[in-house]
Amino acid sequence: MTQNIVKVAVIGFGYWGPNMVRNFNAQTNGEVLYVADFREERLRVAEQLYPAIKTTKSPDQAILDVEVDAVVIATPVFTHFELAKKALEAGKHVLLEKPMVTTSEEAEILINLAEQKQRILMVDHTFLYTGAVQSIKRLVDSGMIGKLQYIDSTRINLGLFQPDVNVLWDLAPHDISILNHLTDEKPYSVQATGVSHTNNGIENIAYLTMNYESNIIAHFNCSWTSPVKIRKFLIGGDQKMIVFDDTEPTEKVRIYDTSYHYTEKRSDEEKRRVLVDYRVGDIQIPKIPMIEALSGVAADFIAAILYQKQPLSDYVSGINVIKVLEASQLSIKNGGKEVKVSYW
Ligand SMILES: NC(=O)c1ccc[n+]([C@@H]2O[C@H](COP(=O)([O-])OP(=O)(O)OC[C@H]3O[C@@H](n4cnc5c(N)ncnc54)[C@H](O)[C@@H]3O)[C@@H](O)[C@H]2O)c1
Repeated sequence: MTQNIVKVAVIGFGYWGPNMVRNFNAQTNGEVLYVADFREERLRVAEQLYPAIKTTKSPDQAILDVEVDAVVIATPVFTHFELAKKALEAGKHVLLEKPMVTTSEEAEILINLAEQKQRILMVDHTFLYTGAVQSIKRLVDSGMIGKLQYIDSTRINLGLFQPDVNVLWDLAPHDISILNHLTDEKPYSVQATGVSHTNNGIENIAYLTMNYESNIIAHFNCSWTSPVKIRKFLIGGDQKMIVFDDTEPTEKVRIYDTSYHYTEKRSDEEKRRVLVDYRVGDIQIPKIPMIEALSGVAADFIAAILYQKQPLSDYVSGINVIKVLEASQLSIKNGGKEVKVSYW
C-alpha cells in the first residue's frame, strides 16, 4: 500500500461492477488498478470509461498482482467462494457482493481464512449505507416508534431471473440485513414458500416470514415477475409506524403517528367483540442526506483496511444473512414448514 492509498481490483464488470469501480475511484484513499471480466466486450467498455485502469480476462492475474491490496467481487453468487478464497489466500482484503456465498460452510471457511490472514472480509449489504436506513435506525434506536412489532416488505418488479439463486437469495439479503441492523434480536425461525415458473426449478416468487421470541413478526414478499416495481418497507412500532418507499425520489421515509390500543377491561356483553382504539395523527417526513450508498460502502471498506477495524457490514452480518436464507430454502423445500435458524 503506497501513501495510504488502497489499490483495488474489481472482478466482474456486468451490471453492478461498474458502480463499484466508479465509487472506489472516487475515494481519496482508493484507486482501482484492475478490472477483470470473462467477457471481452465488458473490458472494452471499462477501457473506454477508465483508460488508466488495467483490464484482464483473467481474475487470477488481477488477484495475484502484488500491487493489488484489495479485491472487490461483483460476479454471480456461485463464483464468490472460489474467487474470495483465492484472494484471501493471496493476502488480499475482500469485499464480496451480496449474498456473501451459497452456503454457511463456505462463509465459515472464508471467515476463518480472513481471521488467520488478518485481512478484512466485508459483504456489500448496500442498504445499511443508505441515508434512509441510517435515518430509520436512529428513529428506532431513539425509541420514537416504541416497541417494534412488525416489519412488512414488498420487493417486487420485472427482475432479471438469476441462473444460480432463487428470488429470495437475490432480493431478501437487503431486507434481512436491514432488519438484523435495526434490531439486536434475531429471528429464531422462518417459514417460506415459493414457486418456480421456469423449468430450472429456481423460485421466481417467494414469501418469507421470520419469527421472533419477543413477538415481532417480519414478512418479505419477493418477486421477479411483477409488472410494477415496488420497494416498500413498513416498520410498525407500538407508538408510531414508518414507511420506507425506496421508489420515491426524495421523500423516502414517512413517520406515521399512528397506533392502536387494545382495551383490556370488557363487560360481559363486550367480551365477544375486540375493543381497539385507533389513533391517527400527523405524518412526518425526515430530511435524508442524498448520499450514494456505495460511496459509503467503499469508504467503510477502505477505512477498515487502513485503520484495522471491522466495517459496519462485516462478515458476521454476511454469514447471518446466509443462515436465514439457508433455513428459508429448507422451508420452501418442505412446503413452508417452520425451520429454526442457528446463528454464527
Ligand atoms: N448490492 C446490490 O444492490 C446489488 C445489485 C445488483 C447486483 N448485486 C450483486 O452483484 C453481483 C453481480 O451481479 P450483476 O447483476 O452485476 O451480474 P452480471 O451478470 O450483470 O455481471 C457479472 C459479471 O461478472 C463476469 N464474471 C462472471 N464470472 C466471472 C469470473 N469468475 N471472473 C471474472 N468475471 C466473471 C460476467 O462476465 C459478468 O460480466 C451478484 O452477487 C449480485 O447479487 C448487488
